[in-house]
Amino acid sequence: MSRQTAQLALMLPPAEPGTPAGRWLYAALRTAILEGRIRPGARLPSTRDLARHYGLSRGTIVGAFDQLKSEGYVEASVGSGTCLAKTLPEALLEVGRPARPRSPATRGRPRRLSEYGRRVSLFENRAGPVRAFRTNQPALDLFPTTLWAQVAARRLRRASTSHLLGCDPMGYQPLREAVADYLTTSRGVCCVPQQVAIVSGVQEALDLVARLFLDPGDRVAMEDPGYVGARLVFEACGATVAPVPLDDEGITLGDASLHGARMVYVTPAHQFPLGVGMSLQRRLALLEWARASGAMILEDDYDSEYRYSGRPVPALQGLDRHGQVIFAGSFSKVLFPSLRMGYLVVPSDLVDRVAAVQSVTRRHAPLLEQAVLADFIVGGHFGRHIRRMREVYAERLSVLLESARGRLTGLLEVSPVEAGLQTVGWLRGRSDGEAAANAAARREVEVTPLSRYGQGKVGRSGLLLGFAAVDTQEIRRGVRELATALEEGIVSSGRSPPPNRFRHQLIETPRADVSPPTPSTPERDGHGPSRSRPRRTPRAGSDR
Ligand SMILES: Cc1ncc(COP(=O)(O)O)c(C=O)c1O
Repeated sequence: MSRQTAQLALMLPPAEPGTPAGRWLYAALRTAILEGRIRPGARLPSTRDLARHYGLSRGTIVGAFDQLKSEGYVEASVGSGTCLAKTLPEALLEVGRPARPRSPATRGRPRRLSEYGRRVSLFENRAGPVRAFRTNQPALDLFPTTLWAQVAARRLRRASTSHLLGCDPMGYQPLREAVADYLTTSRGVCCVPQQVAIVSGVQEALDLVARLFLDPGDRVAMEDPGYVGARLVFEACGATVAPVPLDDEGITLGDASLHGARMVYVTPAHQFPLGVGMSLQRRLALLEWARASGAMILEDDYDSEYRYSGRPVPALQGLDRHGQVIFAGSFSKVLFPSLRMGYLVVPSDLVDRVAAVQSVTRRHAPLLEQAVLADFIVGGHFGRHIRRMREVYAERLSVLLESARGRLTGLLEVSPVEAGLQTVGWLRGRSDGEAAANAAARREVEVTPLSRYGQGKVGRSGLLLGFAAVDTQEIRRGVRELATALEEGIVSSGRSPPPNRFRHQLIETPRADVSPPTPSTPERDGHGPSRSRPRRTPRAGSDR
């Protein structure tokens, strides 16, 4: 609670009949303070507001304030009214007992939650100072905040009452148009603005689509390893998540996990987390499978704006002729994550359903933010920002690869990704990814073991390394520290590094009907995807 407390009405219990007004007010304020309803340092409502609100004379209010002041609960200062003391008299007497309201939850009564309420798990947001090799994060320090502020200020100055009122549940029309233009031109998506829904990022898009298509017990197939945020959404709905293995061309289609799936979730432009791009042949085969089986495809296009080499393949949605694909994308990586803005492109027959869900959940995304974003895109700033950041990230990636060649050879083989904000570093032989990540963390380096994204057997250990969020100096430091951490790990385990036989990895997934998942089964050597160029899967164990 801030000093703004003074602007808000303070709700006090009614006076007992016969209690003098001054005594009632003093006791009620003191109770509110001790229950923690007014925070230390917060400003109390003015005597005039309290007098008006409770029909008392200002003299009565001043009397109650004076008594609280003499007991050390409040302090008056010229110009800022009467504030609660930073340290209450009780705190000086009883060390360590915070003045907090006793909520019913603390009395230990078990809650009767819905099935959803019991199933849903927390999907944590990473916080803390950014350092090498933070994943999934753009270079926030290079975001043009001054320009954004100018665009926002201009929009706010011109805001009409309709901007204050609200908009269609699908979103603010000029933003839907701008997004449709952008997706059609740059991502090969085939849509009109009416098919675009503005949501608060891919995460909300996943939730919305899951509500529309999944009932408890339904099967959802997803890439393995894959995006944990998607799995948690599907599991919260009560769906059975079936992990499907990947090869060099993307999700494999012969796997039993796909049988009977209502929906398949994929990241074709830049597979998360391995970075492989789904080949054109695989895209067409997946579409054909969906058409034949009646399943929906949920295409998550979370960060494909940043491509450094290779030719971009058009979105799966753009190849779809039967309305099987729902396309989701986000401004979290191209602008900044706290904007909480993204989009969903749905087949035309689903527009009403999506609008209905939005109308009963959030009504619509915050309108003024949508309007600012639309201005930012239409004004050409969005395109310029992407172009600029693509150069920055390409440089950061090449510094990572070059430093890794110089310092990590024999310890970690860093893949030269073609797109995105992160890449994979393959550990040698049977190295333990978790142990490597812990050793790196002790040296202030952040890496995520690939095993955290997998549901099946992990064939080869790897670490996910983000290269976009920090500058080249920090990347070089990260490489040095990571090398030392990995060397120390080898020394302490008494092993010498095995020869580097495997350029690719294989996440070997149990058949769909074999559950539950086995996250930490012994590793098996093998091959799999590492680049976006279509390539036949080499046989496990062969050298490349
Ligand atoms: C693969 C993938 N999909 C979706 C998201 C969520 O994006 P948003 O911030 O738009 O909810 C992320 C976030 O990092 C991601 O990595």
